Amino acid sequence: MADISSNFLGIKSPNPFWLASAPPTDKEYNVVRAFEAGWGGVVWKTLGIDPHVVNVSGPRYGTLRGPDRRVIGLNNIELITDRTLAINLEEIARVKRNWPDRAVVVSIMVPCDEASWKFILPLVEQTGADGIELNFGCPHGMSERGMGAAVGQVPEYIEMVTRWCKQYCSLPVIVKLTPNITDIRYPARAAHRGGADAVSLINTINSIIGVDLDAMAMSPNTGGMGSHGGYCGTAVKPIALNMVAEIARDGETRGMPISGIGGVSTWRDAAEFIALGCGTVQVCTAAMVHGFSIVQDMISGLENFMDERGYRTIDDFRGKAVPTVTDWRYLNLNHVEKAVIDQESCIKCGKCHIACEDTSHQAITSIKNGERHYEVKEEECVGCNLCASICPVENCITMRALAPGEVDLRTGRVVSGDYANWTTHPNNPMATPASEVA
Ligand SMILES: Cc1cc2nc3c(=O)[nH]c(=O)nc-3n(C[C@H](O)[C@H](O)[C@H](O)COP(=O)(O)O)c2cc1C
Repeated sequence: MADISSNFLGIKSPNPFWLASAPPTDKEYNVVRAFEAGWGGVVWKTLGIDPHVVNVSGPRYGTLRGPDRRVIGLNNIELITDRTLAINLEEIARVKRNWPDRAVVVSIMVPCDEASWKFILPLVEQTGADGIELNFGCPHGMSERGMGAAVGQVPEYIEMVTRWCKQYCSLPVIVKLTPNITDIRYPARAAHRGGADAVSLINTINSIIGVDLDAMAMSPNTGGMGSHGGYCGTAVKPIALNMVAEIARDGETRGMPISGIGGVSTWRDAAEFIALGCGTVQVCTAAMVHGFSIVQDMISGLENFMDERGYRTIDDFRGKAVPTVTDWRYLNLNHVEKAVIDQESCIKCGKCHIACEDTSHQAITSIKNGERHYEVKEEECVGCNLCASICPVENCITMRALAPGEVDLRTGRVVSGDYANWTTHPNNPMATPASEVA
């Protein structure tokens, strides 16, 4: 049986599923029930220095829902903990004492001055917590006060504060990054330079969830006035995966431990983050929407997957997909695929034809012998995958890779099977002559 236990920076947990710093981890009552449900660890809701913050009393959340009303994305305008530092510290110490086999990491956000960090770090360390996570990511409210994302958007600040934490605290330091930045590699590199033991990402994305067209006011709003919030949940997973991969394959940060966050709600999501280099994953929205018990499906699903594939430990497949992530210019232009429509399962809705006809390459028929009939015209198909992506029937449209020696009916070229990348490709007007490629 696969062993899904995790050892992240020396912080051990029975599984890699941690609850992210957020309402599910904001008090002992929640965290204890999360541990009873099986979560491997928590990152405690972000602590600050008293006087503690005051949250709005009114809608803090907004949702983006799919047609079946399932929550796809969640927007929030909540601040860090609104409970006192003393109460949080007392509860953290008790939880860690009572749950020694679980990971208890404490998220911290204080003003960007040395004295504030020097003050809070020993207090957190005294709780017996396993590590600290620096919240450089909160994009609303706290960032207007020069904290959270306001720090995470300035690599020099990240490096400076990380150094203070390494200086005034002996616990592992995880730097939590904001996605509200153009290139995630710069803050990650800064964390690395500052001595961070790991990075975690992503925090939430700046967002306005919608507009109430009757009131002509953004939503959610507090008595008529609103403020942008932070977006998370399933919808942000692709953004998070890309940022994780960018850090995992960057020359300066390659090998740095990563805790993956953003849209994890199933074992499969978690496995994807692990395959792109993460040692643990953190979950917030899925727990808020479905409750703590979802971790059981995550645990059994990950175990089954690893058993089927013969992975004994998480490290056996951690980062395995990273070498497949590259720059566009290195993609193989000798690889050709064509869509194939399975006539047995086709329900003749015509969506593939419409999409291809109106917006792509006019490569799908619509009528044959006077009847609805959808078939790929190989001589027009560029293999873009739009038809397969929008087809409502699973596996009805698949992609077939042409074998070496086959002729691409669209270009008339024989598929060679050689790997030709765009850097040297003759069709590339900016091609580097092959002789100059290192
Ligand atoms: C209501 C709410 C409050 C949050 N509060 C914090 C916080 O105090 N500190 C923090 O680092 N992240 C906070 N987050 C961000 C989450 O920890 C997480 O990074 C983000 O939600 C993405 O994960 P998800 O897609 O699983 O929700 C909060 C998120 C939500 C929805």
